[in-house]
This record gives sequence, C-alpha cells and structure tokens, in this order.
Amino acid sequence: MSWPYPPKLAHRGAGKLAPENTLAAMRLGASFGYAMFEFDVKLSGDGVLLLMHDATLDRTTDGTGRVAGFAFGELARLDAGGWHSAAYAGEPIPTLAQVARWLLRNGRMANIEIKPCPGREAETGAAAALEARQLWQGAAVPPILSSFSETALDAARRAAPELPRALLFGELPGDWLQRCLALGCVALDAHHAALTEAVIADAHRAGLRVIAYTVNEPARAGELFGWGLDALITDAVDLIAP
Ligand code: G3P
Ligand code: CA
Repeated sequence: MSWPYPPKLAHRGAGKLAPENTLAAMRLGASFGYAMFEFDVKLSGDGVLLLMHDATLDRTTDGTGRVAGFAFGELARLDAGGWHSAAYAGEPIPTLAQVARWLLRNGRMANIEIKPCPGREAETGAAAALEARQLWQGAAVPPILSSFSETALDAARRAAPELPRALLFGELPGDWLQRCLALGCVALDAHHAALTEAVIADAHRAGLRVIAYTVNEPARAGELFGWGLDALITDAVDLIAP
C-alpha cells in the first residue's frame, strides 16, 4: 500500500509529559508538531470505545476496579489527569469518537492500538474497526489499527478489511512474518530492541512496513532509520523532532 504516514508518532498523545490517552496529551503532542498519535482503546462495560491503557482504572484515574465493570457514564465522571499533575486535574477519559473528531478537525492521523480487556478480544477488535470505519469515513488518511492480540486484529480484519493493520510484538517469534501476513497486515510493529537491520529488510522484502516502539533516545532513532525503519513511536516528543 502507499504509506501516507509520518516517520514519528507520539506515544499515548505526548508520552509522559501529559496524562496519557487524553485529549490534553494530544494537544500537547500537537504543540510539538506531531501529526500522528498512538493511543490505546478498549470497551467500557456498556460497549463504548474509550482511551485507556490498563484494564483497571487505578493507575491513571481517581477510580478503582476494572474498566469493563463500569458503564461509560460512570467512567466519564472520573479524573484521568490529576494522577499526572495538578495542572491536568479534571481531564476526562475521552471516547474514541471524541478523539477522532479532534484529530480530524486538526488534520492529525491516528494509530489506534486495540487493547482489549481480558476476554473481550474479538468483541473489541470488531467494535474498534467498525467505529473507526465510520468515524474516518471520507478522511484522506485512514487510521492504522494495531494490536498485540491476534484475535482482536483478526476480528478487526473481518469487520473492516479495508483499514490498515499492524501486528504488535514485544519479542519477535520465529514466525513473525507469517503471522503478520496471515492477518493481512501492512506493517510489523515491534519493540525497538527486537529489531535488526535484517528483520527490517525481511519485512520490506515481504511488502511490510516496520514501526518501532517506544523509541525515546535520538541516537537510537537515528540508528533505526539508518536501517530503513519506516516509523517510530516515541514518548520523547520534546527531544525527538517530528
Ligand atoms: O503501540 C505500541 C506501544 O504503545 C505498545 O506498548 O504498553 O505502550 O501500549 P504499550
Ligand atoms: Ca499503546
């Protein structure tokens, strides 16, 4: 496929400089010039797609318990910014729809990481793909859907096969290429420590692009791009120019 995406993506909005997976983080990342944002999406108990990394609320909100244990109306009342710093107190958990509207109005692109709560892999993958199709209908550049869950990514493929997909890996298994191709992926999305020049060349020979996460050292970014890397995801939006 053509590759309309920029070489650098802001991780969870603006890395650690703002509360992750919030609109405030996207605004901060955009202020550093970032044009594309990676963020984590999962389902509330009543089926609303929202931004949250963890399966539980405790680390990044003033709530406790499982995300899947609450309806979105309850989650919307939580503070998802005060844990980070006082300046962000009261920042809400955004829905995928709210973030999509902000990104599209501001001419920014998305990498939606499908991060299902345990047991909800297929349901979350299908829901994310169908909603992304609807939200980005007519957009110049579609979002990339990524996931560590092959079940979620397969469900996304069945629901909206036209949306580009990337399979995430921490360590690379021997059959990473076959697994990417089986899901019709456009890219391998790997922890940067798992990547070598040979892996990137193998991916390219098979027609795949390569994305690396989470690259926070400018020197490492330079090394990876020297090997032919297509894109990286970074927390260091202040140190790595977009
Ligand atoms: O999407 C790449 C990266 O964000 C995966 O790791 O734990 O930050 O979601 P994590
Ligand atoms: Ca992520």
